Amino acid sequence: DAPSQTLAEAAPFPIGFAVSPASIKSNAPYRQTVIQEATSITADVAMKPSRISPQKGIYNVDVADQLIEFARSQKKRVHGHTLVWYIDTSPNWLKQIRDSTDLESTLQTYIQTVGTHFKGKVASWDVVNEAVDNNRGAIRKDSLNTVGKTLFNVGKILGDDYVARMFQYAHKADPNARLFYNDYGQETRPAKLSAIVNMANDFKRRGIPIHGLGLQMHISIDTPNEGIENAIRKSAETGLLIHISELDIAMNPGKKKDFAETPELLEKQYQKYKFVVSTYKKIVPASQQFGITLWGVDDGTSWIPGFCQCLDAALPFDANFGKKRAYQGFLDGLK
Ligand code: G3I
Repeated sequence: DAPSQTLAEAAPFPIGFAVSPASIKSNAPYRQTVIQEATSITADVAMKPSRISPQKGIYNVDVADQLIEFARSQKKRVHGHTLVWYIDTSPNWLKQIRDSTDLESTLQTYIQTVGTHFKGKVASWDVVNEAVDNNRGAIRKDSLNTVGKTLFNVGKILGDDYVARMFQYAHKADPNARLFYNDYGQETRPAKLSAIVNMANDFKRRGIPIHGLGLQMHISIDTPNEGIENAIRKSAETGLLIHISELDIAMNPGKKKDFAETPELLEKQYQKYKFVVSTYKKIVPASQQFGITLWGVDDGTSWIPGFCQCLDAALPFDANFGKKRAYQGFLDGLK
């Protein structure tokens, strides 16, 4: 049977998609799907520092502003992503800074300028993205050797407590925005999960303005349910808002070249979507449910195949915007 409700209609909390403004403009079924199914949107790259400030002192906000205008006209919430990210989405000019005083004031100015520009237009920000190391659960301080290609190591230059200061800058720029710390892999990396939870509790004790935790949740059909539940539960115990901020569920975690979708894999994906959504709904108190955002709209435009150099189909909509079993899994998880 065809589902009778959209995700937005069925959910008691916001449902989001990460979107590309170009696809919203040029791809009618993509736009239609966002309009019908979502109540919240996140820009997939358009609000990252590399797009907003490709050169020092230059701020290109036009694309983001157009997306925000689309959201406003369609009455969708906008979640800002992201003010600070150590990785390659930071513009090259910023990655070249080595002096801690210079870097601190540059980031402060960036956050002040961008936060002020989008004030009242975004509900929330991922203030710092992916600052915690995968295994040790410490603030990332990777070598600076690869700067210019991949890493921009703000943790190494500014020290562990930079994350707290970025939240203070963001709060000053937009006192009404809900401020999130966003990261991935909490469901399979216990040291990372505890480090994030401890950091959040420490911020609360010290009066650092943090309001939420984003669990990206880029998982697969093989990700153990216990880990997913544990990550959601421990994060929710902080009392902060919880955003499943970048959900997708890969069917080809082994990145096999001969991957083919089978009814069995689609069924596993159905089960996993249902599990994530029902667990979020059950475990996170309603007052802390910031919502669930899917990282992309459809399998045809998903980031995963480009990244893994393999075939995959991790979203609830197929490349023709048809509703997959995964879509029904999402709906069943909401019941
Ligand atoms: O727009 C240009 C295009 O003009 C150019 O021809 C093309 C050739 O390389 O690149 C296009 O830009 C790409 C952009 O995505 C637009 O799709 C960038 O190279 C590419 O690096 C960028 O990748 C994005 C990645 O973050 C880095 O910013 C992915 O789309 C986006 O899905 C991904 O999102 C991240 C979250 O921000 C944080 N969590 C993980 C998640 C997945 O990696």
